[in-house]
Amino acid sequence: MAFELQACLFDLDGVIVDTAKYHFTAWQRLAEELGVPFDHADNEQLKGVSRVDSLEYILRKGSLELDNDTKVRLMDRKNDWYLAQVEAMQPDELFPGVVAFIDELRAAGVGVALGSSSKNAPLILDRCRIADRFDAIIDGNSITFSKPDPEVFLKGADALGSEPDRTVVFEDAVSGVQAALNGGFRVVGIGDAETLSQADFILDGFDGFTMEGLVDRLS
Ligand code: BG6
Ligand code: MG
Repeated sequence: MAFELQACLFDLDGVIVDTAKYHFTAWQRLAEELGVPFDHADNEQLKGVSRVDSLEYILRKGSLELDNDTKVRLMDRKNDWYLAQVEAMQPDELFPGVVAFIDELRAAGVGVALGSSSKNAPLILDRCRIADRFDAIIDGNSITFSKPDPEVFLKGADALGSEPDRTVVFEDAVSGVQAALNGGFRVVGIGDAETLSQADFILDGFDGFTMEGLVDRLS
């Protein structure tokens, strides 16, 4: 039986835009200052994870215990470095094909929402001039629990009036794929098949991808 597609929820960092590389360089710089080694394997663990949980991961790795004020100061420093890169973003940093795919969904009456852990999402959407493409935006400012908690996607589905098992989540992060599964969603992994092995299927990118192709793969 054909999959009945009601809605799609898109993660932001690493799915719509390649901000994952900016997060990586900023966290690596902070970790280095703290004397904690930080490589791409560490970064993979942090994808989809909130700012505070990311800092806690680095502190745990370095067996560091810091007071709350210091943690806030460190997160602000990391975010300043990150923002210096994000402020300069342009629409040409949107991944190829993602806007065309979203437009196809919308034209077919399929609800489209953002489901991101990032508090910087409004700024990035604005810089890339894509905010108006979403029927609902759920981001780090509207959630309490970080992925793999399903809150961000459940709120997205709620805003669109869709049922999780007829809603598809697009995710590049292990924590995000897990969040989608925890919420009862179908999930498409963007990136490495081994890393995202729990996803329904893996997509290299949106270029040339269609709604028909999506429904086919999930049916
Ligand atoms: C997620 C990223 O989308 O947002 C994480 O994958 C990031 O790397 C998290 O830590 C929070 O982002 P921000 O912009 O609020 O620091
Ligand atoms: Mg992501």
